[in-house]
Parts: sequence; C-alpha cells; structure tokens
Amino acid sequence: MAKDKGPMERDTLRIDPDATGIARAAAMLRAGQLVAFPTETVYGLGADARQGEAVAGIYEAKGRPSFNPLIAHVPDLAHAEAIGMFNAAARALAERFWPGPLTLVVPLKAEAGISTLATAGLDSIALRVPSHPVAREILQAVGTPIVAPSANRSGRVSPTEADHVWADLNGRIDAIVEGWSTPVGVESTIVSCLGAEPTLLRPGGVTRAEIEEVLGHALADGTADAAKPVAPGLLESHYAPQAAVRLNAHTIEPGEAALLFGPEPPPGLGDAKAHLNLSFRGDLREAAANLFSMLRRLDVSGVARIAVMPIPREGLGEAIEDRLKRAAAPRPAQGN
Ligand code: TXA
Ligand code: MG
Repeated sequence: MAKDKGPMERDTLRIDPDATGIARAAAMLRAGQLVAFPTETVYGLGADARQGEAVAGIYEAKGRPSFNPLIAHVPDLAHAEAIGMFNAAARALAERFWPGPLTLVVPLKAEAGISTLATAGLDSIALRVPSHPVAREILQAVGTPIVAPSANRSGRVSPTEADHVWADLNGRIDAIVEGWSTPVGVESTIVSCLGAEPTLLRPGGVTRAEIEEVLGHALADGTADAAKPVAPGLLESHYAPQAAVRLNAHTIEPGEAALLFGPEPPPGLGDAKAHLNLSFRGDLREAAANLFSMLRRLDVSGVARIAVMPIPREGLGEAIEDRLKRAAAPRPAQGN
C-alpha cells in the first residue's frame, strides 16, 4: 500500500527548459508547489509570493529561520511597481540594471497581496527582475510574483548548477528546472531605497562602482556591521562548506585544499590535497562565476580545511570577499 508522503518526502521532478517544461513549471508554481530554477546569479527555489503555505514550504525545505525575508522575482519594472513604491533613485537603478543581478528594497504596497511570511512581516519588500532566459520565461508564464531564495539548504553554499540543487533538496521540493549555467555565480547586489540615500545591504553581481555611476555619488554602506545586519538574513556565518576555510592564504599548509587566484602558484601547493583556480588569468568576473562550484568541489574531496588565496577587493572582488568571509566565519550557520 502506498504510504502518505509528508512535506519533507516528495518526488522531485527534473524538468527541461523547453516550452513544455516552462509551462509545466509555471503550472506547478501556480498550484503552490516549490520549483527551483536557474537565474543569472544562482539557482533560486521559487514559490508563489501570494500563497502563504507555498512560501512556508520554502522555509521548511531549506530549514530557513522564518524571520528571514525573501526576494520577490517579477518579469519587469511594471510588475515591480505594482508591488513596491519606487522613488527616483530606485527607478533610476531599476531602469539601468534590470533585468540583471540587482535587488531593490522598497516600501511594500499593502494591496499587492504578498504573503506576510515572504516579507517576514516587514513593511518593505525586496524586488528583482532576473535576466536569465529560463527565469524570465517562467516569470512571464506564471504571471504572479515568485519569491526565490537561493536553492540550497540554509547556511550551505549557493547552487550554480542543477546538480547542486539536487544534492541539497532532492525529495524536499517538487521540481528543478534544468538550466544552462548561472553566468554571474554570486547573488544579486541588494540596495535599500527606503531612506533618503540608497544603501548597500549586500555586495553582489552589480558592482558598487556601477551603482555609484548611476547615482552620481557614493553609496551608503549598510554592510559594515555584520553582527547587526540591516538585511535580516545577513548573518555572519553563511555559504558554509563542511571544511573550515582559511582566507588570505599566501602559502598552502600540508593537507589543505587550495582555492587559487591568478597565475602564480603559492608556496606549498605541491603538498595540497586538491586545488582549483578561480581564475588563472586573474579575472574577477570569471572568479565569481566559479566561486560556489569550486568551493563545493573542494569540499567533496573531504579535506578538513580549504585555504583561499587573496582576492583583490575591487569590482566583483567585494562580493567574492563577502561570500568568502561568511564561508570562513564561526559556525553553526543559520543563513540563506
Ligand atoms: O541572486 C539572488 O538574489 C538570489 C537569486 C535566487 O535571485 N536570491 C537570493 O535570495 O540570494 P536569498 O533569500 O538567499 O537572500 C535574500 C536576502 C536576505 O539576506 C534577506 O534578508 C534580504 O535579501 N532581504 C529580503 N527582503 C528584505 C527586506 N525587506 N529588507 C532588507 N533585506 C531583505
Ligand atoms: Mg542564499
């Protein structure tokens, strides 16, 4: 006799990103199911933002603390403006960077019908228009805002491949849409447009310099005090592999795995258990795209510690440094 399946015990479909698959994913989301899909940053775990039970399912599948609000994904600025209030700065940033790896936190319109669980009861909302063609087609087909945190178990490394999602969430979610790659590789930049000055809450795929160029002035920094995050989800330990992580490694110690950057091999590399290079040619964009998958690959080699070479802090280096610091922070993790 077939046994009833609890919420944590379901068959996870793998869906191709063709027209039939997109329609199926959209129908599943409308029916309140949990569907992971690729975005240009990382894979997201989607649910209909207006269905409280579906949103609750995300927290449950990820094991995510319920006070941590989610990003609502929409197909374009017009849909975003139906949900949040855009001041001049927010509109300028949206027009320049959407679709793309930027999330804007704006005042929530109460009439938008967003589940209070999705915003964790805040009167603001984080909104994003992704550029990945599969994400865009799903959002256009489904027609309602889709909340989607990174499709990993809470506190774990974010997924940049369908197989990473499978490894973390198989049996806990309803489907994974197979995508092509997630070209940016780190999550979206989050900018709060609630106060008088736009404030950076999380560095990410759009660089600080690119944002400041649009604003015409420096971006206020809400990232400085990691112990008191402005974005409630930005707890210090996050993106954590099983192995310990040692940053700014100029030399590799025996038995460590090494995450390299640039063409120069560090002293001690010969004794490393395993090593991968984020970007042999020292390109920060390539390094961001490789970051999470290489952390995962070194981690499955079973080493006790991963040594990471210094990464320059300019451009996307700020987002890479932020993720690496969280990977290296004291555990246990309760992240995204
Ligand atoms: O690239 C991304 O942004 C990916 C893809 C899937 O779109 N998503 C993602 O979501 O990184 P998540 O849930 O892992 O991170 C969302 C962050 C959390 O740190 C959360 O606290 C913050 O956004 N956030 C959400 N709503 C907020 C709000 N109203 N005010 C401040 N921070 C907010
Ligand atoms: Mg996350």
